[in-house]
Amino acid sequence: MTGVKAIVYRRYGGPEVLEVADIPEPKVGPDSVLVRVAASSVNPVDWKMREGYLDGAIDVFFPVVPGWDVAGTVEATGPAVPEFSPGDEVIGYVRKDVVKGGTFAEKVAAPVRTLARKPRNLSWAQAASLPLVGLTAYQALHHALKIGPEDTVLVHAAAGGVGSVAVQLARAAGARVIGTASERNHDYLRSLGAEPVTYGDGLVERVQAIGAPTASLDLVGGEALISTYDLGVPASRVASIVDASVAERGGAYVFVRPDRADLTALVDLVEAGKLTVDVAETYPLERAADAHRRSEEGHVRGKIAVEVMPS
Ligand SMILES: NC(=O)c1ccc[n+]([C@@H]2O[C@H](COP(=O)([O-])OP(=O)(O)OC[C@H]3O[C@@H](n4cnc5c(N)ncnc54)[C@H](OP(=O)(O)O)[C@@H]3O)[C@@H](O)[C@H]2O)c1
Repeated sequence: MTGVKAIVYRRYGGPEVLEVADIPEPKVGPDSVLVRVAASSVNPVDWKMREGYLDGAIDVFFPVVPGWDVAGTVEATGPAVPEFSPGDEVIGYVRKDVVKGGTFAEKVAAPVRTLARKPRNLSWAQAASLPLVGLTAYQALHHALKIGPEDTVLVHAAAGGVGSVAVQLARAAGARVIGTASERNHDYLRSLGAEPVTYGDGLVERVQAIGAPTASLDLVGGEALISTYDLGVPASRVASIVDASVAERGGAYVFVRPDRADLTALVDLVEAGKLTVDVAETYPLERAADAHRRSEEGHVRGKIAVEVMPS
């Protein structure tokens, strides 16, 4: 049996349940692409899944290979896949219908709907850091909120993975952006084109002092979402990716989904120089547990990448 190196967990738990293992090489189904993985990245959903928080929402089969983001090279394609050929460099948000064969492995079988070509001007680590956060921000801002140049968009948690991309996408759409972050990230937010404000007590007054948001993307929930309503943003122009209560007031609860067209739109923006991805730290595959721990601290600027087999 040909095996590939992967990170697996055999039960729910803390970062210590992650271990290096040899797994069988994934089979390439009819609609799938076998990708030789150069890099992946960490998203908070990875450790939420590992802890078992999503057990009621999605079927999980142990041992699980974690990870939904990928950048790599096509090794083989299924018989129903004319879109790609061996040797193509691709990126993807490889969320499947069940949780089992993720991207923290030397090879992954990715449904073709999850993939797009790799942006030419990004490193492997950057490219692997784009799909999940990029699609989330794109689908929230363009599909749910339909933002435009007339908008002032308030982004809560603007310095993180989703937030840093959301700021750039909103700016590329011509909007003004006010972003929340701790003081140490204010210069970073300015560099992305946002006007920074510190989150926490007094947020409403601090935002009011500089502008009147017409739309908001909430990446925090709870008090941050309530402050958005206190600022007078119409409920129909509020999207949250963490707080489903937003829908009860007429806003949009957004859960990111794989979409080739949206991912290709992001690639085009990257290649046009309007969007980039900031990788704060890169870990080798063997240190996946440390990468999860770092993400769980909740204060990463940009993204955490995981190198698998960079060429
Ligand atoms: N529904 C979906 O489809 C979907 C998709 C992607 C992500 N998510 C969820 O969305 C959340 C954000 O994801 P992410 O990838 O952007 O996470 P992340 O990269 O881990 O976010 C880290 C950032 O959050 C900031 N932050 C922490 N507490 C904050 C607060 N109270 N107010 C404002 N900023 C705060 C930190 O800034 P400071 O260091 O300055 O504090 C840091 O830059 C996670 O809960 C994730 O699971 C949901």
